[in-house]
Amino acid sequence: MKTPIDIAVTGAAGQISYSLLFRLASGELFGLDQPIVLRLLEITPALHRLHGVQMELNDCAYPLLQKVILTDDAKVAFKDVDYAFLVGARPRGPGMKRKDLLECNAAIFAEQGKALNEVAHQHVKVLITGNPANTNALITQMNAPDLSPSCFSAMSMLDHNRAIFQLAKKCGVRSKEVKNIIVWGNHSETQYPDLTHATVKGLEALTLVDQTWIKDEFIPTVQNRGASVIEERGGLSSAASAANAAICQMRSWVFGTEVSSWSDWISMAVISDGSYGVEKGLFYSFPVKVSSAGELSIVQDLELDAFSKACIKESALELKEERKAIKHLL
Ligand code: NAI
Repeated sequence: MKTPIDIAVTGAAGQISYSLLFRLASGELFGLDQPIVLRLLEITPALHRLHGVQMELNDCAYPLLQKVILTDDAKVAFKDVDYAFLVGARPRGPGMKRKDLLECNAAIFAEQGKALNEVAHQHVKVLITGNPANTNALITQMNAPDLSPSCFSAMSMLDHNRAIFQLAKKCGVRSKEVKNIIVWGNHSETQYPDLTHATVKGLEALTLVDQTWIKDEFIPTVQNRGASVIEERGGLSSAASAANAAICQMRSWVFGTEVSSWSDWISMAVISDGSYGVEKGLFYSFPVKVSSAGELSIVQDLELDAFSKACIKESALELKEERKAIKHLL
């Protein structure tokens, strides 16, 4: 039997975690021969809810789940972890301004960044899902100066999967026939789902769908999908698809995009190195490849038309604005 790996999940009593934890415990991410320890973080008032989740995990009698640790202390949750899913975040309350939301989440992620810096393994992979995910990733990373910036990414895989489905549906093919979708930018309405490099059954997507559909239907549908799901589910947000995306993104990050996805690359928000004119240091969703040896790189030299360039710039501007709002916490 392999040595167990420690996985931290924050916001563990929330909706996304209610799907994520059971999939992790079943061995879906790390394989059916890899025991795991789940280290679950919640705020103190939610610990009893978390205990209920633990009871259900126990009742699944998962053979790979060695231990479940519940805590309201980030340093306990992140102790010696190799993987951390930062899902927990403060939701936007009634009358709360975006700036207030940014600030209170910034405080949470600053504290968690410090704790990761202090107690996590040096090569920990930290996937930030809690919104505003890109800026929360920036705060976490900036508060963990001893960890490499490459230890952090924010989730754009849900947007990526949403884009794949929309194109597959339009072309009447299965999702796995769609390759090289890109979602650029922030996980917000300024994200840019880009079909200019996508292929469907090996054919260029742009020869199969017209610009009117792309601009009037495809892009807004993907950008606003989260809100549409909330509306249809009577106020509940996308949770199962978000948990699925977290698993997809982490799998590609750990095992490589070649073996883990049917595409050449995935969309993943990583720290910008200045590629495509995006200011260095912002957490921005790019097309990313990960080799089977674990080396991550932003796909370079893709040709961009004027529309793509403008969309990419707009989303970067929004991230700069978000960074400005929480500058004092960096
Ligand atoms: P939820 O409200 O059901 O659960 C969030 C949990 O986080 C709650 O149990 C809460 O007690 C906990 N929490 C709050 N502050 C915490 C802290 N300081 N430490 C630990 N736990 C804390 O929300 P849900 O649906 O699970 O979503 C979680 C986050 O993921 C939200 O911010 C949501 O907007 C975001 N999200 C991001 C997506 C993406 O693609 N990046 C997609 C879908 C959701």
